[in-house]
Amino acid sequence: MKFFVDTAEIDAIAELNDLGMVDGVTTNPSLIMKSGRDIIEVTREICALVEGPVSAEVVATEAEDMIKEGLKLAEIAENIAIKVPLTWDGLKACKVFSDAGHMVNVTLCFSANQALLAAKAGATFISPFIGRLDDINIDGMELIEDIRTIYDNFGFDTQILAASIRSANHMKDAALVGADVATAPPAVIKSMIKHPLTDAGLAAFMKDWEKTGQKIV
Ligand code: E4P
Repeated sequence: MKFFVDTAEIDAIAELNDLGMVDGVTTNPSLIMKSGRDIIEVTREICALVEGPVSAEVVATEAEDMIKEGLKLAEIAENIAIKVPLTWDGLKACKVFSDAGHMVNVTLCFSANQALLAAKAGATFISPFIGRLDDINIDGMELIEDIRTIYDNFGFDTQILAASIRSANHMKDAALVGADVATAPPAVIKSMIKHPLTDAGLAAFMKDWEKTGQKIV
């Protein structure tokens, strides 16, 4: 499973990128707002740092304007994936971008039927929002499973990008049910390493090692 980082914070992306944990980046208008940066400037910096797809989202709601915005975003770098919402206008823009050879991430997906429409419109990525479904007592991971089945049934090559990931368990479950990609905040990716037995085991080794009085030089 590929890891995308869901943030517009350059330092956080760089830290994980140095460790080989970044296959791409996703941003959205809320993340750009949190970064306090200009969308074009910060997206350009992210694209220079990361080799994989960097999703940058349009904010227009009508297809014609989405297309104008998306083409402007795509000028930033070759690894831009234009992000459009799962609306009819978003799908129209998706089809135009995909026919022109651009990567497209269709976002705000909450149902298998929406994912089917996005695949038919040529989406490179479909972003089902796990956490926001869990928030309203609907199993987000079941949606990923359904989309996986549908895409495999018909050989769609749209990649399932599990989004709105809130925990390390979401990462594990997304990998188990066959998401192609998961996008998560840096803190969630870092939390995947945690295990109390690792910490306790290391502390015991250190204590015993001290007793030997040895040094490895
Ligand atoms: C995905 O592309 C979105 O940017 C993101 O995963 C949304 O996550 P949230 O529901 O935690 O805001």
